[in-house]
Amino acid sequence: MFDLSGRTALVTGAGQNAGAGIARALATQGAAVAVNDLVAERAEAVAKEVTAAGGTAVPVAFDVTDLDGVHDGVDRARALLGRHLDILVHNAGIAADFGQGHFRTLDPSRWRAPVEINLFGAMNCVSAVIDEMCEAGWGRIVQISSGSARTGSAHGLSLYGAAKSGVEGFVRHISQEVAPLGVTANTLALGLQANAAGDSNADIAARIPTRRLGTPEDVGAAVVYLASAEAAWMTGQTLNLNGGSVTY
Ligand SMILES: NC(=O)c1ccc[n+]([C@@H]2O[C@H](COP(=O)([O-])OP(=O)(O)OC[C@H]3O[C@@H](n4cnc5c(N)ncnc54)[C@H](O)[C@@H]3O)[C@@H](O)[C@H]2O)c1
Repeated sequence: MFDLSGRTALVTGAGQNAGAGIARALATQGAAVAVNDLVAERAEAVAKEVTAAGGTAVPVAFDVTDLDGVHDGVDRARALLGRHLDILVHNAGIAADFGQGHFRTLDPSRWRAPVEINLFGAMNCVSAVIDEMCEAGWGRIVQISSGSARTGSAHGLSLYGAAKSGVEGFVRHISQEVAPLGVTANTLALGLQANAAGDSNADIAARIPTRRLGTPEDVGAAVVYLASAEAAWMTGQTLNLNGGSVTY
């Protein structure tokens, strides 16, 4: 089960943490992976690590917020992998200008970055691969989101939450348009990850039913399922992956 041999995948923001875990997991299941990151050295390091472990991976640096850059990057990925893309995982989602702070304290110049990377980033990436998936009659789109999309908090995440809510809606609608053509689209909404180091992480982990924060391996395993042939009847869904911290 969950054999991805012969499939190709693009994972955005895969130069570290969750994205790197996704790239490693897809490659372990046999997919040839295009490892994207804004920072070329990170993409190269992860692709090298995957290759050293016996997988197939190529680095493709580009900025997901730049439509032309995304299309160029996807062209490069296809050329390097020798095949159209079967699987897209849009994981890049935390902009350098991460919108911390209560909304009323934020200058309007900071409103756009979270929307650019999460929502326009998803549109840019989906636009680059969706035709070939539909023409091939097989495709998997996996969007990485956050519990912040559906649960409000006073942690200064209003812009991020708005952007993640927006992309969840985008994926839901896309899923309906392409389902008859063999393409699925789902969202994985993550709870707090261990890499998001903060002073209160230990307190947060203690309140999670499974008593720990998420890991790249947790995320990679869930993406493997959503990317697999076996998940053909799973589409249009937002799935929580959060150690049981929210159960709606
Ligand atoms: N870390 C958490 O606790 C947490 C919780 C819930 C959801 N998420 C979501 O999980 C995903 C991954 O989070 P993470 O903590 O692993 O992120 P991270 O910041 O550790 O890594 C993201 C990678 O994306 C790259 N990147 C940034 N902007 C980019 C762009 N414009 N184009 C291409 N690449 C770009 C960065 O260089 C970085 O290597 C994000 O979508 C995030 O919103 C994270």
